[in-house]
Amino acid sequence: MKTSRDDLEKQQKLYDLLKKQHEAEKHEILHYSSLLKDIENNLIRNYFNTLLNDGIKHIQYITQAMAKIEGSSGSAHLTKEGIDESIEEELRSKNILSECINLSDDIEIKELIKSVVVDEEHHIQILKHIRQLIESYSEKN
Ligand SMILES: [Fe+2]
Repeated sequence: MKTSRDDLEKQQKLYDLLKKQHEAEKHEILHYSSLLKDIENNLIRNYFNTLLNDGIKHIQYITQAMAKIEGSSGSAHLTKEGIDESIEEELRSKNILSECINLSDDIEIKELIKSVVVDEEHHIQILKHIRQLIESYSEKN
């Protein structure tokens, strides 16, 4: 199949726009999450939670579209080494956050960050399980 110059330019423009929108969605997520901390009204909180969750979903879809244009299959990055790297990142986050807990004297701040540390520990367990699954799948193939 012959790809014309115009087609390539169109693809490039599409990719650039998706990349730009990817950044915009990230920005929206950061903005909404910073607004949420000051909102006490439940209905308005729910609305902003919806905007936040949709933003995460949009980033996933846009990333999928970009990967398709790049020609990578998405699961191509799902390697044991990649998962090990993710586990390292989660561990680093956990260590930094644990240090934050130690540095703070404020009970509320400590509790907030502690809940993130608990999540990170869970993420590490999930990633270790994913690594096991990848290993057992690759043994069968
Ligand atoms: Fe995490």
